[in-house]
Amino acid sequence: MSLPPTLADCRALDDAALSVRIEAVRQQMGPRLVILGHHYQQDGVIAHADLDGDSYQLSKSAAERTDCDAIAFCGVHFMAETADILVNRPEKLAARGGRRVHVILPDLAAGCSMADMAGIEQVEDAWADLGTLIDTADITPVTYINSAASLKAFCGKHGGIVCTSSNAEAVLKWSFAQRRCVLFFPDQHLGRNTARRMGIPLDQMCLWNPHEQRLGGNDAQQIRKSRVILWQGHCSVHAMFRPEHIDAMRKNVPAIKILVHPECPMEVVDKADLAGSTSFIIRQVEQAAAGTQWAIGTELHLVKRLEQRHPEQQIRFLSPVFCMCATMYRIDLAHLCWSLEHVAAGLPVNVIRVDDETAAWAVTALDRMLAVSH
Ligand code: 13P
Ligand code: SF4
Repeated sequence: MSLPPTLADCRALDDAALSVRIEAVRQQMGPRLVILGHHYQQDGVIAHADLDGDSYQLSKSAAERTDCDAIAFCGVHFMAETADILVNRPEKLAARGGRRVHVILPDLAAGCSMADMAGIEQVEDAWADLGTLIDTADITPVTYINSAASLKAFCGKHGGIVCTSSNAEAVLKWSFAQRRCVLFFPDQHLGRNTARRMGIPLDQMCLWNPHEQRLGGNDAQQIRKSRVILWQGHCSVHAMFRPEHIDAMRKNVPAIKILVHPECPMEVVDKADLAGSTSFIIRQVEQAAAGTQWAIGTELHLVKRLEQRHPEQQIRFLSPVFCMCATMYRIDLAHLCWSLEHVAAGLPVNVIRVDDETAAWAVTALDRMLAVSH
C-alpha cells in the first residue's frame, strides 16, 4: 500500500488537482467520512463539505452522527473539540463497541483568538474571587461555545451551560431561571448585546478583566448589583466593525439595511437594523426581496459568498478594511487533501481528542444547551 502524501506534496498541487483528490476520498469512503464546514470557510473548502453551518448547527450535526469513521472539521479548534465530545460520548462509544470517531482538524493551527482570551485557571480564579464576595450558588456560568473544552467542563460542573450566537438569549433565559446572576465568558459583546436585548440595563452588568488582581477590576458594590458579569474577551474580527462605518454607509445609501453579527461591539449592534448569528444573516438575505441593499458586518468570506449567491441583491461589506478570520483561513485545500488521504489510508492525522474527564463534564453543559430550544 502506498503511503499518503506529505503536506508539502499537497501544497505543490493546484486547487483543481486537490479538489479531484478530495472528491476521490469522499467517493471511496462514502458515509464513513463526514466533512463539516463553518460558514466562514473559504469557498473552495465549503464546496467539499457535507454540511455548512453555524456553530450551533455543526455541533448538532456532530451530536447526531452515529456511524461514521471520521469527521473532518473545517472550522477552528474549539469546534472540533465540541464535535469530539458529542460524537464520542460514552453511550455512543458503547453502541459502537468502543470504536471512536476520529475528529480531524485539517490544520492544528486553526485556533480562535477569542477562545484564547479565557483560560481555565483564570476562570477558576475569577470564580474563587467572586466567592469571597457573593455566593457562587447564585451564579450560572455561561460559556460561549467559542471556548476551550475545559471551560465547558467548568460550566458542566458548576450548574452552567454553553451557548452559541444563535441561542444566546434562550440560554440566558434558562440561566436566569436557575440563578440570579450570570458569569458570561469569553465574549463580552455577545453577552452584553444579548442581555440588553432581554432588557437588562447596563448598570446591572460589569466587565471582568482577568488581568486585574481583585474582582476583575470592579468594586464590591458593582459586583453585588450585577446580574451579568461579562468576561473581557472579544472576537478580533468583529471588533473591527465601528459605528462610523454604519454612519458612512447610511449617508451614501439611505435605503441600506445594516445586518451584523452579535460579536460586534454594542455601539455597532445598536445602530444596525438587524443582528444575529451567521445562519440568521444568511436567512435574512435569502428571504429579502430582489433589489434589497445590505451592508453586512461579519467575516469577509461569508459576505463574499452571499454577494455571489445573491446577484439579485446589492450586498456590501460593512467595513472599509478587510475583516477576515485568519485562523479559519488556515484550513485550505492542501490541508484538507492531506488530512483526508491520511484518514483513507487508516493513518489519521490531527485527531482532536478531549480527555475523558473534561469531556464528561463538558457534555453536561452541552446537553443543557441542546435541550434549550431557540
Ligand atoms: P456563529 O457560527 O454562531 O454565527 O458564530 C460565528 C463565529 O464567530 C464562529 O467562530
Ligand atoms: Fe474566533 Fe472570531 Fe474567528 Fe470566530 S471569527 S473563530 S470568534 S476569531
